[in-house]
Amino acid sequence: MRSHSEKENKSSELNWKRFVPMTGGRCKMDLHIMKKVDQILSEFELSKEELKEVMGRMQREMHRGLRVETHNEASVKMLPTYVCSTPEGSEVGDFLALDLGGTNFRVMLVMVGEDEERGWKVETKHHMYSIPEDAMTGTAEMLFDYIAECISDFLDKHHIKHKKLPLGFTFSFPVRHEDLDKGILLNWTKGFKASGAEGNNIVGLLRDAIKRRGDFEMDVVAMVNDTVATMISCYYEDRSCEVGMIVGTGCNVCYMEEMHMVELVEGEEGRMCVNTEWGAFGDNGELEDFRLEYDRVVDESSLNPGHQLYEKLISGKYMGELVRLVLMKLVNEDLLFNGEASETLKTRGSFETRFVSQIESDTGDRKQIYNILSSLGVLPSELDCDIVRLACESVSTRAAHMCGAGLAGVVNLMRERRCLDEWKITVGVDGSVYKLHPRFKDLFHKTVRELTPNGDITFIQSEEGSGRGAALISAVACKMAARIITP
Ligand code: BGC
Repeated sequence: MRSHSEKENKSSELNWKRFVPMTGGRCKMDLHIMKKVDQILSEFELSKEELKEVMGRMQREMHRGLRVETHNEASVKMLPTYVCSTPEGSEVGDFLALDLGGTNFRVMLVMVGEDEERGWKVETKHHMYSIPEDAMTGTAEMLFDYIAECISDFLDKHHIKHKKLPLGFTFSFPVRHEDLDKGILLNWTKGFKASGAEGNNIVGLLRDAIKRRGDFEMDVVAMVNDTVATMISCYYEDRSCEVGMIVGTGCNVCYMEEMHMVELVEGEEGRMCVNTEWGAFGDNGELEDFRLEYDRVVDESSLNPGHQLYEKLISGKYMGELVRLVLMKLVNEDLLFNGEASETLKTRGSFETRFVSQIESDTGDRKQIYNILSSLGVLPSELDCDIVRLACESVSTRAAHMCGAGLAGVVNLMRERRCLDEWKITVGVDGSVYKLHPRFKDLFHKTVRELTPNGDITFIQSEEGSGRGAALISAVACKMAARIITP
């Protein structure tokens, strides 16, 4: 791990000034505490040089993931999605879309239609179902039976149980596709653990559960990752959108890769969307010199130790817990809450990621921070409130910088492939951290732009991307199937 003297010497173009008292001056004692806090938190800072290093390592792993020879040992799997650039157009009509990947499961009815001006339009009705813990960590049968039950409930609600609709499934985990509607789950992430799913065809598990229920029929035509669904839904807004990114419970990116570079699939022409599964970057030790003691604890106490190490530095599943561990360190060093934490704060998972956003959104009167900390059983001083805010800022800023370095790697790689000096690209983004955290977006954009000197990058936020994207790709798949059947 890097020492503090190293950290003090480095250039800090991307650093932010953390040492600004929020109101008035500080007494000598407070300044002494702040200095020590600052020293501890400085471990989270990353210089431009370090971010370039992360970007370079990410690109190396991406290359290794794409190549047949190195694919198996690469941490970034670069999974072919069978979503290709196609001039086919799409069917119009009703589609059912499912979205599984976070703490909620959503069912949507998407009406894809033609629009005189833009050539298409989509309208949606949706319903959200929370996934009980035992469905997430029980057996695959239990999980998919629960999913089928939710679909049945949705169809009842909208009086469409008699219809056999085409269905698009957004399934946000690493899947090795054999076709658009067939793919094996490689491993669960984000706290899912249902046994009997890893190594199996997910669409098959869904079809079996629907059959077991027997009270409705569906025609599953496509399964996509949430990054892919996001990219597709944004593509319909902006034809330069060739990258999809999620920073929510998990973190991942997909992009349009030249077909001849996707060695795992035959064919040379056109482009195919590759699901990078970059959350696993670091699983082969590529991030060891950047990971801190807090990252190691978060990883060791997770359901998948040793896996998804890059994701664990960035995503919402882990951000709150990272902050809690930093706070505990400050308490143990006698720098916070008079050296005493409440029982709640000592409990793993008690500091939710949404608190990080709320604390950093505090307008300066510390009211919001005070209320959150009181709900966790501590009665903070003003100085405590300011220190907690700094801890949140340190963790979220590092997350934004790390994530920006990764995306810059993807964008630069795409530019090199296309042999362009300057170019325009649009990135479609979704996820609670990106959308709800008050500073993540800006810090992330700034990092990406600093590391992609010749790029003109537009970021667009996707709305309902997971469902709409799954429906839109299903509509394209239906059109293609119809074309094959009736040439
Ligand atoms: C999964 C990805 C997904 C991402 C965002 C990760 O944990 O492995 O497949 O795209 O979370 O939801």
